[in-house]
Amino acid sequence: MRHFVILLMFAAVSACEQPGIVETRPIAIATAASVTFDGGDYADEVGKLAHGKRLDTLFGCNACHGPDHSGVNFGEMIPIVDGLWASNISREMPKLSDAQLERLLRDGIHPSREIYVMPSKQTQFLSARDMDALIAHLRTIPRQASRPLCRPRISKRP
Ligand code: HEC
Repeated sequence: MRHFVILLMFAAVSACEQPGIVETRPIAIATAASVTFDGGDYADEVGKLAHGKRLDTLFGCNACHGPDHSGVNFGEMIPIVDGLWASNISREMPKLSDAQLERLLRDGIHPSREIYVMPSKQTQFLSARDMDALIAHLRTIPRQASRPLCRPRISKRP
């Protein structure tokens, strides 16, 4: 009888370990990790500015806003969006504090205007060191004269 009880207990325990019964574990919650680009381990001001300049190119600030950051009329490249300008940021950025510039770059929020095309998603998760370097470099950009907002239109008369 004692052997029978032991056998019964063994059977009950092994039933709990049947294949198909999946052990559940708590699932880790995913959190956004900040990205640090190569060069983000700069050791001095020169390295920091060089890293910021590289990020300027990497994120295309100097493509959409022009090589000297004086603004680009997208309509000249894509006629359907004629009138859409990437601002002359060499003149607009000095009006923003570092915190306002970072908010624009991370969250797409400008203190006084709507933002439509400016791609803040690409710089949203920059590490603090990358963001510091990018902003430090942007502060070194010399102010450029603005080009006229609209090209003069020549009206054709029949
Ligand atoms: C895909 C093109 C594009 C890229 C890349 C881009 N921008 Fe812009 N940005 C724009 C456009 C267009 C505007 C004008 C507002 C709008 O329509 O979103 C703008 C607006 C801004 C403004 C606000 C200017 C104002 O009028 O007050 C700042 C500052 C700025 N960009 C900085 C940057 C920086 C710094 C980078 C690189 C990290 C960058 N942008 C990359 C297109 C771009």
